[in-house]
Amino acid sequence: MNTKVSKAIIPAAGFGTRFLPLTKAQPKEMLPVVNKPTIQWVIEEAVDAGITDIAVIISEHKQSIQNHFTLDNKLEGVLLKANKKEELEKIQEVNKLANIEFIIQKEQKGLGHAVLCARDFIGDNPFTVLLGDTICYGSLNCTKALVEIFKKTKKSVFAVEE
Ligand code: UTP
Repeated sequence: MNTKVSKAIIPAAGFGTRFLPLTKAQPKEMLPVVNKPTIQWVIEEAVDAGITDIAVIISEHKQSIQNHFTLDNKLEGVLLKANKKEELEKIQEVNKLANIEFIIQKEQKGLGHAVLCARDFIGDNPFTVLLGDTICYGSLNCTKALVEIFKKTKKSVFAVEE
């Protein structure tokens, strides 16, 4: 059994009705926490746990998530011309985090269905699921800890919050 965990699914296609009206046009996954959108913190946690390939599940009205992780040649050109090196590095870092693929969940049929949308992306490989709107905090990287338990037990493992 392959126990190398290099893939992650990040469901981020929900309507976010609990946060309305804030989330009508702005995905909750894009809400800022300090200087980054929530979903960037989530992706960084996955990368820190050894994940290299990520499928983010979005809906048609959540393109801003994809835009955040996609190269923007025009913006990069403007920053380069203005000699804004630090700002340029910051946006380039986002593009280099991991191989990120975007899958559209056409109908919002729930979290389980969102995960199923990445079936072909995952194939027979072990994988992690991180919610695009949930930041885990504490000294331990939660995903890394889950991966370690999986390597020992070779069983599905999940984290819950009190
Ligand atoms: P939530 O339970 O927070 O659902 O989903 P929601 O629809 O986003 O929000 P509420 O309940 O209406 O306020 C947990 C995670 O699963 C994703 C969400 O985007 C969120 O990151 N999700 C949920 C999907 O990707 N697809 C779905 O159909 C439902």
